[in-house]
Amino acid sequence: LSSIFVDIGGLEPGGQVTVNFLGKPVFIRRRTAEEIEEGRAVELDDLNIDRESRNPNRPGTDALDQNRTMDEEGEWLVMTGVCTHLGCVPLGNGAGDFGGWFCPCHGSHYDTAGRIRRGPAPENMHIPVASFVDDVTIQLG
Ligand code: FES
Repeated sequence: LSSIFVDIGGLEPGGQVTVNFLGKPVFIRRRTAEEIEEGRAVELDDLNIDRESRNPNRPGTDALDQNRTMDEEGEWLVMTGVCTHLGCVPLGNGAGDFGGWFCPCHGSHYDTAGRIRRGPAPENMHIPVASFVDDVTIQLG
């Protein structure tokens, strides 16, 4: 399997880059303190559509915020930028009713951890295999 390396050294909180990996967009976001707080405040009972982390880096875990992020502090969110309904690319940067991403194709709202909260999408946005190589480099794959 191929891997790519992404330099995230220039990203400030609230910044995001989109890279192409295996033919799909991958969103790499450095979340703000507010986004982290909002994500961490969500309990499993609030997740009515999908309660699985969809994170192969933490297989079998539930969709609590800490199981969706790369680091313990929850700053780094890496996920495949593909709506789990029919595959459109959601809009980001605080979009939608839950402050995360919004898919305009049929109206799916994702929260600050990329979890589906309202709309037709059946699953949280998926997370790719990813790891930190060093402080400023993320490896995908
Ligand atoms: Fe995103 Fe249908 S493809 S809501």
